[in-house]
Amino acid sequence: MLEPPRPGDKNGMPKSILLFSAALLALQSAHAAPPDTLEQRLAPCIACHQPRERNDAFFPRIAGKPEGYLYNQLLNFRDGRRQFPLMTYMVGPLSDAYLREIAQFFSSQHPAYLPAAPVNASPAMLERGRVLVQQGDAGRKIPACVACHGQQLTGVAPAIPGLVGLPRDYINAQFGAWRNKVRRAQAPDCMGDIAARLTDADVAAVSGWLASQQADDNARPATAPTAPLPLKCGGVPDHGGAP
Ligand code: HEC
Ligand code: HEC
Repeated sequence: MLEPPRPGDKNGMPKSILLFSAALLALQSAHAAPPDTLEQRLAPCIACHQPRERNDAFFPRIAGKPEGYLYNQLLNFRDGRRQFPLMTYMVGPLSDAYLREIAQFFSSQHPAYLPAAPVNASPAMLERGRVLVQQGDAGRKIPACVACHGQQLTGVAPAIPGLVGLPRDYINAQFGAWRNKVRRAQAPDCMGDIAARLTDADVAAVSGWLASQQADDNARPATAPTAPLPLKCGGVPDHGGAP
């Protein structure tokens, strides 16, 4: 189940991946050798995510996101729907059951959020972002983001993430990834469809408004959507129950 990487695989890999090979080996081999804690085994993940999430907009916060969402992302990286070579390398050899355990672990962590960073956007642009997020644009078949991500934008258990507390560059990058098909979810890929309906100016407005909202440290994902989702999303139950 948790095979160590074959030594031949390392030849020709970028240096950053080589650096993480040792950590990855610990992630895999220590799994078979108790007594240790899950937290110790996940040290390589934490070593990268925790400090980088605070300093680098392209490193997403994983703590506190809904468990089913994190699990789906780990499957997406492992199974090639979401492309980020280092993440795929980290989780490639791991089983569904282990990925589920990892998702549970990070989902139960709730470190404080950073203060919202100042956003370079005009008041008109921010207002356009707010309207798209809270009301959508029915004429262009763009559903309100809150219809799925929750009225408070804190996400909806088990598989829809919150949208506050994400850096603007990260949000922009994800929309780029959906459009370029390097980020996909299980079908039907509702975010892929929504990303295709937004213009560049829409994305900039939405990401600007979202990133200017301060995340609340006590906020938690809602337990169920308040109404049926406006589109079907793969890997997400319609009714808020277990996937
Ligand atoms: C070298 C740094 C690094 C390491 C080590 C690393 N990650 Fe990541 N992780 C990233 C980056 C960068 C992304 C964002 C990729 C993208 O934009 O698609 C990411 C994305 C993720 C996501 C998706 C987050 C979201 O909100 O969609 C999850 C979940 C995740 N990582 C979990 C893990 C776990 C679990 C481990 C350990 C097994 C790990 N990561 C190790 C850098 C790292
Ligand atoms: C029909 C439901 C639905 C609607 C409407 C919707 N989303 Fe999503 N969104 C999702 C789901 C489901 C995911 C998780 C996708 C996955 O598993 O990769 C997601 C993921 C995201 C993420 C990734 C977060 C992360 O941490 O990586 C962003 C950003 C996002 N949505 C932004 C938006 C914005 C902005 C809008 C409004 C314009 C919106 N969404 C409307 C269902 C929806």
